[in-house]
Amino acid sequence: MKRTLTKTADGSFTLYVPEIDEHYHSIHGALQEAEHVFIQNGVDSFKHQKVVHVLELGLGTALNAYLTYVWAEKRAVKVSYVGIEAFPVAPEIVRKCLEVLGEDDLRVLDFFEHLRFEETQSLGHFFEITPRNCKWQDTVYLEKFDVVYYDAFGPRAQEELWTLENFNIAYQALKTGGILSTYCAKGQVKRDLKSVGFFVETLPGPPGKREMVVAVKTVISA
Ligand SMILES: C[S@@+](CC[C@H](N)C(=O)[O-])C[C@H]1O[C@@H](n2cnc3c(N)ncnc32)[C@H](O)[C@@H]1O
Repeated sequence: MKRTLTKTADGSFTLYVPEIDEHYHSIHGALQEAEHVFIQNGVDSFKHQKVVHVLELGLGTALNAYLTYVWAEKRAVKVSYVGIEAFPVAPEIVRKCLEVLGEDDLRVLDFFEHLRFEETQSLGHFFEITPRNCKWQDTVYLEKFDVVYYDAFGPRAQEELWTLENFNIAYQALKTGGILSTYCAKGQVKRDLKSVGFFVETLPGPPGKREMVVAVKTVISA
């Protein structure tokens, strides 16, 4: 898959995929979007726990993983992170995206540049990650995670990931009280999240986007 590096409105970088005419992040600001959707309205809801388990659909450039590492250090909360990625991004691109954000700690840059799939690796006292090179559709987790970062390409570009079956994978993977956060607030997506059992909240979106969604698993699954 051909991908080109593109600068977004807040100065951070994203990737553009010409084949599906889709960006990895909002062109209004990749960093602002990731901070807003996945950190502030995702993992930060669990800041009072000792350990937070995060599952991501679409590890991509590892921006969300990196920001979660920064969050874990700042909050002194342990994070155990599983990042699912079907089409890994070249390591040097991952490094470049983080350098552009101003990250200059070589230990951190080397860590994210050289992530090894199917291995659990730790960075500092608070962060461990297991990148997995597989399709979301093939993952099976039961009641293990506090947060799912649902960061697939949008429904226009990748309709097959915005289905009841795939939302149900997230629902099953979450503990009761766990949440799915996503930048996508399409009506059909919200209705489908509801029908797999989530309580769906629509929140203000990041700059350039009106809304986003947090879906809460409020009951014990049958
Ligand atoms: C919107 S981008 C995610 C951006 C990423 N979170 C980041 O911070 O760079 C969507 C990602 O999902 C991946 N992807 C596409 N289809 C997938 C599938 N079926 N299972 C897992 N990952 C998939 C793409 O390769 C891409 O990296």
